[in-house]
Amino acid sequence: MLFSRGFSRISAIPRKSLFGFILSRSAGPSQSAFSNQYVHSTIKVCGGRGTPSWSLPSLLGLGRQIHQSSSVIEEELDPFSLVADELSLVANRLRAMVVAEVPKLASAAEYFFKLGVEGKRFRPTVLLLMATALNVHLLEPAAAGVGDFLTTELRTRQQSIAEITEMIHVASLLHDDVLDDADKRRGIGSLNAVMGNKLAVLAGDFLLSRACVALAALKNTEVVSLIATVVENLVIGETMQMNASSEQLFSMEYYMQKTYYKTASLISNSCKAIALLAGQTTEVAMLAFEYGKNLVCILVYVSLPSTHHKLQDLHASR
Ligand code: FPP
Ligand code: MG
Repeated sequence: MLFSRGFSRISAIPRKSLFGFILSRSAGPSQSAFSNQYVHSTIKVCGGRGTPSWSLPSLLGLGRQIHQSSSVIEEELDPFSLVADELSLVANRLRAMVVAEVPKLASAAEYFFKLGVEGKRFRPTVLLLMATALNVHLLEPAAAGVGDFLTTELRTRQQSIAEITEMIHVASLLHDDVLDDADKRRGIGSLNAVMGNKLAVLAGDFLLSRACVALAALKNTEVVSLIATVVENLVIGETMQMNASSEQLFSMEYYMQKTYYKTASLISNSCKAIALLAGQTTEVAMLAFEYGKNLVCILVYVSLPSTHHKLQDLHASR
């Protein structure tokens, strides 16, 4: 089964997490009962039980296809191991980036970047895999001479997007834990519970400011604009959740809109940023954006197969 090792490594993720589903292109009509703008395909949602499977590697262009006679066999690949070295690099760089002059702020800001509490590293993994998929043109003969693509400036800039994304994500969680008065995060005491609300808010602000500095260093106004919109979306999504009327609470449209702002916007815009940095066309950048959005919205309904087919068609037409 494709990606089975990768998924088994993250099998402990809570039910509401992204991977708690089975995506089946052959799911019956009962699974596609809700027809809203987010539904383009049939999905079987299993609420975290069972063994997830989906042909993500094909979408990312990572599924090695071995042609034997007329049949095509897809080899198993572990998505995490494909970028394991880079994930460590990103994690180390993140630890260095959140160092602050004031000791109290430093220990607060680094709290969730310490070994063992880095989380699932889902976002950096997706973004680095997206970079691999979208940098393929650099491996074409015409681009020969650009050197080892993993060490090019482009790849470093894309790694920077993964770092910025992770800092914004952690900053939003620090603020969220204050708003929710949470006492636990990633298996340890939440920062607000350990160091108090004030320091937790300031640590979130600090991470956000470090993310801004890293973003500015990319000197790409379109990418800056995308990520700035993400921060705005996070705030809107959180406010929508806090202030939902009872009618809105039962509205699927409201729920999906809130979910986009609060959860999907970050990964979708970051995927788009990866594409833009790779010099991809607006069309490909939009597909990268849709991929990120659908990866999150897949919790309920998804248009991943249609995005998948669009990407396949695009590749076939080249
Ligand atoms: C988790 O929600 C929270 C988020 C995904 C985003 C929260 C966003 C803000 C607080 C806006 C401020 C943003 C920045 C960048 C500082 P949850 O409570 O549903 O999930 P949980 O169980 O992980 O806490
Ligand atoms: Mg919360």
